[in-house]
Amino acid sequence: MNPATTPATTSATTSATTQPTRDARFITFEGIDGAGKSSHIDFVASLLTARGVQVVTTREPGGTALGEQLRTLLLHQAMHLDTEALLMFASRREHLAQVIEPALARGDWVISDRFTDATFAYQGGGRHLSIDRLAQLEAWVHPHLQPDLTLLFDVPLAVARARLDNNGQLDKFEQEQSTFFADVRNEYLRRAAQFPQRFRIIDSTRPMDEVRRQLTTIVGAE
Ligand code: TMP
Repeated sequence: MNPATTPATTSATTSATTQPTRDARFITFEGIDGAGKSSHIDFVASLLTARGVQVVTTREPGGTALGEQLRTLLLHQAMHLDTEALLMFASRREHLAQVIEPALARGDWVISDRFTDATFAYQGGGRHLSIDRLAQLEAWVHPHLQPDLTLLFDVPLAVARARLDNNGQLDKFEQEQSTFFADVRNEYLRRAAQFPQRFRIIDSTRPMDEVRRQLTTIVGAE
């Protein structure tokens, strides 16, 4: 199921041949708007489900009833940039409490379409808010949790822009100029270099089957 249309969902297999479930993992999908990450979430979830893993797919901002309301505001309402950052973390706090932490405690794997790296990239890189201040909010909201694996779908700006322009109505972020997305992309790439143990960069200009092969290899190692 596509987390772009719903709050968190759970899927699993229960057959007698199911492999023992490995320790819970937290996997995040990241990338600039138009990078094509969301189309691969169902694929990765199905890979895991076939292995007998219980998977929760979810998204940010959103993932809870309150979070989805905040998402509507965040994507469509003009607001102070600090308010935007604070609401991203407010949505995240609720998401952690209601969805992510309980799922991981059950031993489920969680796949989230965006998490805190997006706040560093968009509000830090794109909006130029202080990275230190965002790090303080991160330390407040989830001091002890980081994704185990972050899949960064990377594309040149022109490719992302062309995909967005074919996509109909654009939200507040999607309407930003290319300099904004250049800054967002640079911050993502900077974080990938800073945290190489959890980031994997996916060249999202490659054909779908090639990207899927790469994802199969990466997720298979988890
Ligand atoms: P989506 O289109 O991938 O669902 O993401 C919604 C938009 O929200 C996208 O333009 C990125 C933006 N965003 C932020 O600016 N900061 C954040 O912390 C998150 C999670 C998303």
